[in-house]
Amino acid sequence: RVIVLDFGSQYNQLITRRIREFGVYSELKPHTISATELAAMNPKAVIFSGGPNSVYGEDALTVDPAIYDMGLPILGICYGMQLMAKDLAGGVVAPAEDNGDYGQSEMHITNTNSPLFKGMAADQEVLMSHGDYVKTVPDGFEQIGTGANCPTAAMQDVKRGFYGLQFHPEVRLTENGNDILRHFVFDVAGAKANWTMRDFIDLQIASIRQTVGDKKVLLGLSGGVDSSVVAVLLHEAIGDQLTAVFVDHGLLRKDEAQQVLDSLNGKFGINIVAVNASDRFLGALKGVSNPERKRKIIGKEFIDVFSEEARKLDGVEFLAQGTLYTDVIESGTDTAQTIKSHHNVGGLPEDLKFKLIEPLNKLFKDEVRELGEQLGMPHDLVWRQPFPGPGLAIRTLGEVTPEKLILVRESDAILRAEFAKAGLDQTVWQYFTALPGIHSVGVMGDGRTYDEAIVIRAVTSVDGMTAEFAEVPWAVLGVVSTKIVNEVPGVNRVLYDITGKPPATIEYE
Ligand code: XMP
Repeated sequence: RVIVLDFGSQYNQLITRRIREFGVYSELKPHTISATELAAMNPKAVIFSGGPNSVYGEDALTVDPAIYDMGLPILGICYGMQLMAKDLAGGVVAPAEDNGDYGQSEMHITNTNSPLFKGMAADQEVLMSHGDYVKTVPDGFEQIGTGANCPTAAMQDVKRGFYGLQFHPEVRLTENGNDILRHFVFDVAGAKANWTMRDFIDLQIASIRQTVGDKKVLLGLSGGVDSSVVAVLLHEAIGDQLTAVFVDHGLLRKDEAQQVLDSLNGKFGINIVAVNASDRFLGALKGVSNPERKRKIIGKEFIDVFSEEARKLDGVEFLAQGTLYTDVIESGTDTAQTIKSHHNVGGLPEDLKFKLIEPLNKLFKDEVRELGEQLGMPHDLVWRQPFPGPGLAIRTLGEVTPEKLILVRESDAILRAEFAKAGLDQTVWQYFTALPGIHSVGVMGDGRTYDEAIVIRAVTSVDGMTAEFAEVPWAVLGVVSTKIVNEVPGVNRVLYDITGKPPATIEYE
């Protein structure tokens, strides 16, 4: 394994993720780890991550100097390289004369024989982001790359296996970043590509068992991918010591609640307390049409119902959550994960104090899906499209009523079935129907109608931050339209939304 020491860069988890993609286990650890603790993990190499500080700043983060004497290869990235230059004899770090170097820039490789740059062209696009720079390389080092605004873009001491990069190899904006990392991991550190997601599962299971002992764990199950994967993982680790509370707010898609129960309880045998709280949620939403108020009410009811169920259970010490790495926004410091956890349980009342377990907080979404598949979870459950916490309530524009929910739910089920038949569920990122609340005149049979319209929303996107409307074949839209009008009483018109994000959002409220 390769241990990455965390100096607070926003990219630090990306380094571990790239290395795991190579088939080598990698994990982020606080920079405060001691050489003895590090040795106990038996790593093949250590990487010092980047970070926002200056090595000469008041709050400069340091490492145990004994780590340099362990005989392990070390790769310093950005701050990590500057730290090496400061710690090792002979090195000098200085503030950049202008304002530093931020963004993509050109690096010229001055030693193309360096193991890191094997087979690469002499000029490379790299992502720089730094205020200080290495002015003099430490004794035993040579400069191996130079940049326009940065004399030492890369350095090495082949004998000790120490390497430094002023740029970020872990991001895509560095042209050959992946290969540079790969060369360090395999050629310099001699790691073997023999790690799989199954190993991660075994490691997590062992660690969960050790943390939990014979105590009980509670999990809030939303039906989404992340909490479902946590449920299955925990169940594999501690079996019936896990209780999952599934709050059905009545705003889920057609048959969704039943599918979650059938799969997680039926197939996996997880203890689930299912609470049907539709009446309560619909009651609280009655008469409310402001989108933000609707969201707040749903959030508050959710916490209330969950807390009431949690209080009924005896002897629960731990709360498990499906927090992903991407949820851990404040990835900057070694305390980042605790900061986010507080946010997440911030809504729970004072009397409910749990210790947190977040087994997915090192992973990215697609890794979680892979983990789910490894755990034997059904493909459909693991590859679900995104679904918002407030559910169909924010697709039923204005006041939510049981009658309106039926129109959204039934039309959505038709859309999903037809998209699946046409294979569009594999290519369209998110697709659903919404009820805009428009009434219009129609003619059905011999009669005049004055009914609701349904909007189809289908978008392509990478992360939901921006999106384009999907170019769905007319024929598929035609079939969906006919089916919705024929099979959902009260709907006489179907519209297709051709707006991107921005200027629109994906959801309607
Ligand atoms: P918008 O509508 O902001 O949505 O363009 C972007 C993505 O986020 C999802 N979304 C939510 N997910 N809780 C969630 O878990 C929410 O409150 C929420 N609101 C929007 C939306 O479905 C889309 O994928």
